[in-house]
Amino acid sequence: MLDYKNPNLIITTTDLEPGQVTWRSPSNIAIIKYWGKHGVQLPRNPSISLTLASSFTDTRLEYAPKRSGEKDISLQFFFHGEENEKFRAKMLTFLESVTDIFPFLRQLDLIVRSGNSFPHSAGIASSASAMSALALCLCSLEEELFETLSDDEEYDKKASYVSRLGSGSACRSIFPTAALWGKTGEVEGSSDEFAVGMGDELHEVFKSYHDDILIASKAEKSVSSRAGHALMDGNPFADARYADAKRKLIRLLDAMKAGDLEEFGKITENEALTLHGLMMSSNPSYILLKPNTISMIERLKAYREDTKHPVYFSLDAGPNLHVLYPNDIVHEVRPFIEEELVPLCEDGKYISDWVGEGPEQVD
Ligand code: PMV
Repeated sequence: MLDYKNPNLIITTTDLEPGQVTWRSPSNIAIIKYWGKHGVQLPRNPSISLTLASSFTDTRLEYAPKRSGEKDISLQFFFHGEENEKFRAKMLTFLESVTDIFPFLRQLDLIVRSGNSFPHSAGIASSASAMSALALCLCSLEEELFETLSDDEEYDKKASYVSRLGSGSACRSIFPTAALWGKTGEVEGSSDEFAVGMGDELHEVFKSYHDDILIASKAEKSVSSRAGHALMDGNPFADARYADAKRKLIRLLDAMKAGDLEEFGKITENEALTLHGLMMSSNPSYILLKPNTISMIERLKAYREDTKHPVYFSLDAGPNLHVLYPNDIVHEVRPFIEEELVPLCEDGKYISDWVGEGPEQVD
């Protein structure tokens, strides 16, 4: 097990200047899903995701020597320019939980300013982008104060590890193109504690893949991901699911390396529906899909049947449909999406996204 606890990361200088670090970090869409966990945010099965580009969180961490002598973390939090007590309380709990890793946090007055590129109420989960952006800021702050993370690989590993502690799926957002999280014999260096970048191993076609996110409903989910993961513990299909995910991961990696879009698509859709099937077979059971989600799936399948275009869907833990397709058919697929799927969206809303380069520091 990695141990990032470091009591030496304590500020000893008396003339620390106030400063700031800023990161923009994207969301990601899992192809093999992480659903079910144990211990401290450790996954029951390995997952693999595509890193997105246009759905991101910008987070700025401002710091100054603490004025009061209190030991508690001093934090002000602004979301889209406005103080937000609910988010501040969540962030405070998270920061308190990582003070063994970053003990200097107790010595500073912190102000976090955060905002998403997508509307908060769009039904888009923001935990992956938000937690990865925050983790990157924490690692940059450590590097700025102690120069302990100048090695890029070590930096990414720690940023991914810390992101995971905030939200499991966030650990995959650190890497360009695609990332794998969870130990598997298939990928050397893979770990349950942090994700590894997979972009270089995959076929070029995935570097410019599209993910149009069709908003079936903007409403907050009736069951949170946290509760959903917990329900896997009593799910009678859990063990079969974890074994199935491991098998599918091997097939998926082969397909993604070879650029086999049909096999990629079949596994992608199967995983999306399996995730929702697991929700339906939990106790208590629940459904996050909406009637318009199903209608969109039916239209998409009919379109694929008619045109033979490799357009497939995925789903997160929510009703919104992720439509995945390669860049070379964007001019054919877009009119279909706009004419046939967008009218089924709540308020006609969708987000055009694509595979991206990963986080960037934007100071
Ligand atoms: O990271 P969490 O705890 O919000 O869980 C995410 C779970 C899924 O989005 C449904 C799947 C995944 O692997 O991202």
